[in-house]
Amino acid sequence: METPVKMTDRDIIMKLMARPRLYEKGSAVMWTDPYISNRLLELHLDPDHDIASRSRQKIEHTVQWIQAQARKERMKVLDLGCGPGFYAEYMTLLGHEVTGVDFSVNTVRYATDQARDKKLNITYLNQNYLHLDFKEYFDLVILIYLDFCVLLPEERDQVLTNIHRALKPGGLFICDVLNEKIPDDKVAPRSWEAQEAGFWKATPYLALKEDFHFPEAKVTATRHTILDHHCNADTYIFWTHNYSREDMTEVLSVKGFSDIKNFENVLPDSADSWNSQNITFYLAEKKKL
Ligand SMILES: C[S@@+](CC[C@H](N)C(=O)[O-])C[C@H]1O[C@@H](n2cnc3c(N)ncnc32)[C@H](O)[C@@H]1O
Repeated sequence: METPVKMTDRDIIMKLMARPRLYEKGSAVMWTDPYISNRLLELHLDPDHDIASRSRQKIEHTVQWIQAQARKERMKVLDLGCGPGFYAEYMTLLGHEVTGVDFSVNTVRYATDQARDKKLNITYLNQNYLHLDFKEYFDLVILIYLDFCVLLPEERDQVLTNIHRALKPGGLFICDVLNEKIPDDKVAPRSWEAQEAGFWKATPYLALKEDFHFPEAKVTATRHTILDHHCNADTYIFWTHNYSREDMTEVLSVKGFSDIKNFENVLPDSADSWNSQNITFYLAEKKKL
């Protein structure tokens, strides 16, 4: 077994003072961590807030909007980063044939159990969507809840290649992004919390959070540094982009998508900071042969 490296106070301070390099990765991944992914599942399952998954009211609203874009009564739908399967279940009840992909083991296990208990015929795959190899099978691919914004540029391009390959000619891709109405330089003040046990760990920890703005790349890094009771530090860095209509047209058309449309006000009005005003939905078509 590896012995964790104990950091000196100086190491920790130097680490906290350093601004991350553009697109630097953290030392750990939140979604697939066995402990954190269970905490995340609890958050997904609360129907009333927007943490991990949007509120059930917003999800229903979004599915009705997706359904209004449908060009066929019965579509083959691929839901990337499907989480516990809320969109997959609604789309199945509307008569579509849905495949959900997510790399969190717990979440996929929960979604699969739900589908079995509710007698819904949904295929769930525990897979990283950076490594998909479907070919011309789906009528619609969805990537919902700002997952597009948090992909690094090379990951975003890989996911778009995979989505394009997975779609039939004329098939549709739908995603939502943070637009430029939330200024990309909106950085939260530094914050910290000390817990006996909580979201990041089952044992005592100190969590420090700081945002860093990179205007040239229209991206903000949120770095969480988690110090455990042995003074080991993990870092989780999330890069969140703002995309304008021009940015989306460029990244989607380079990958072979056409007829790119943007939709404002898809989500119902709400007072939270990520709302119908600053989230734009995009619909793009895989060019027909
Ligand atoms: C913000 S949650 C949204 C879940 C779902 N779309 C919803 O809105 O209810 C993002 C989900 O994407 C999954 N995810 C993130 N990166 C992924 C990847 N590279 N491959 C597969 N799943 C991924 C996470 O495990 C998580 O369940």
